[in-house]
Amino acid sequence: SKVRHYKFNVVTRNTTKLCSSKPIVTVNGKFPGPTLYAREDDTVLVKVTNHVKYNVSIHWHGIRQLRTGWADGPAYITQCPIPPGQSYVYNFTITGQRGTLLWHAHILWLRATVHGGIVILPKRGVPYPFPTPHKEVVVVLSEWWKSDTEAVVNEALKSGLAPNVSDAHTINGHPGPVTKCPSQGGFTLPVENGKTYMLRLINAALNEELFFKIAGHKLTVVEVDATYVKPFKIDTIVIAPGQTTNVLVSADQNAGKYLVAASPFMDAPIAVDNVTATATLHYSGTLSSTPTTTTSPPPQNATAIANKFTDTLRSLNSNKYPANVPQTVDHNLLFTVGLGINPCPSCKAGNGSRVVASMNNVTFVMPTTALLQAHVFNISGVFTTDFPGQPPNQFNYTGTPPANLSTTSGTKVYKLAYNSTVQLVMQDTAIIAPENHPVHLHGFNFFAIGKGLGNFNPKTDPQNFNLVDPVERNTIGVPAGGWVAIRFRADNPGVWFMHCHLEVHTTWGLKMAFLVDNGKGPNESILPPPSDLPKC
Ligand code: C2O
Repeated sequence: SKVRHYKFNVVTRNTTKLCSSKPIVTVNGKFPGPTLYAREDDTVLVKVTNHVKYNVSIHWHGIRQLRTGWADGPAYITQCPIPPGQSYVYNFTITGQRGTLLWHAHILWLRATVHGGIVILPKRGVPYPFPTPHKEVVVVLSEWWKSDTEAVVNEALKSGLAPNVSDAHTINGHPGPVTKCPSQGGFTLPVENGKTYMLRLINAALNEELFFKIAGHKLTVVEVDATYVKPFKIDTIVIAPGQTTNVLVSADQNAGKYLVAASPFMDAPIAVDNVTATATLHYSGTLSSTPTTTTSPPPQNATAIANKFTDTLRSLNSNKYPANVPQTVDHNLLFTVGLGINPCPSCKAGNGSRVVASMNNVTFVMPTTALLQAHVFNISGVFTTDFPGQPPNQFNYTGTPPANLSTTSGTKVYKLAYNSTVQLVMQDTAIIAPENHPVHLHGFNFFAIGKGLGNFNPKTDPQNFNLVDPVERNTIGVPAGGWVAIRFRADNPGVWFMHCHLEVHTTWGLKMAFLVDNGKGPNESILPPPSDLPKC
């Protein structure tokens, strides 16, 4: 294992897309930002220096951060943000993980442009559990607003209404030609006939789940969220913000140009923009006059196509990569997850009310001192440990909600004993409308043991749980009008954020935190904080 040093300078850069320019916040002037490469067992030190006017923090999404929660990154959860003009060194060791992940800003809406890939190669000499590809390509999917994203969210918070949707999606920073800007270029992926490529797909978008497909080519799925899966072939994958998927693509068609398409998936009948980002798979030796083989993206509400992908995912669960699914449960939790309406006398545009989001009816309030500091240094008054383990109001979650169901607000965490096992069922509610929520848990991978439509039935549904080879991930879609069940072992001491990875829902309060610490043996406690940890 090695020690790898990176320098991330957070700087503003004028950028032109969709035929118009604006200054954006970037790392090292790049959109998407630089890819962080490492190997399993390496120690990574990233010196982040803030040269912009905003407070900044960076999250290494999916890195377990065993006992190093200080390096996890969510602002006011594990650290105070890095103020303008200052630096912080994120120092962590990658233990037992290899694959594709992403890093991104974890404060305000800066993630819109401050993001990039993480590639963790297997230990030297350890092959992939599939044929070694000829080449590997990081493909970052994202979205683009013509206006300033901080202005977009601030306007929404003032009005109480939903923020504007993005103007385009991007593939490695490029939307491809769109009606709004026909001259807009797209990303090109050069391939050679007969060779196999591994695409490391990352959804870094703020607010949209995406379909991804390539005209005329099947995708062989081999990994999601840096965990190996049983390989399978499929036409279209779906990927939520925060998720990653490695696919093999064989250049086995006639030489030519083939359209690559990333388009939104939303199963609730909500009107959003429908701009498809396009790129080109370009066989070497293809004449420039050759027309591109096109493909039409799935309809925005193609839930069946999305389910076909997610329901096929299984852990590889081989001798070498066993799925260690907890077989017993210490904490049996049920959280409702959804949007609602709270009174807001000052919200004129929202007619005196505002959209809020909650888990178990708690709209999470961001503290002004980081929770991890408050926990380790016993600072009282920052959070309470009364986050409910069961819904405080029981109703037909996916049907008509009771009247006056406004949420309570608070900075509440749920306490887990170190090394205890957790089963968590997340139940979507239809208080505003059923909607798919990609929920991300920091500090852990979990197993997705079950999923269903309607209300979770604690008597019958567990009989169908997969405790053998469920897919292991760090971000999971709670299906619209349904539920998902996960299990994990709380073997990482610290304070761990869990939230919807649609940034608009996080902004509205769809977030909470788990506190794991017995404060006893060396494995049960977090390491001491680094000396340069920013102060609030
Ligand atoms: Cu990728 Cu808390 O987020």
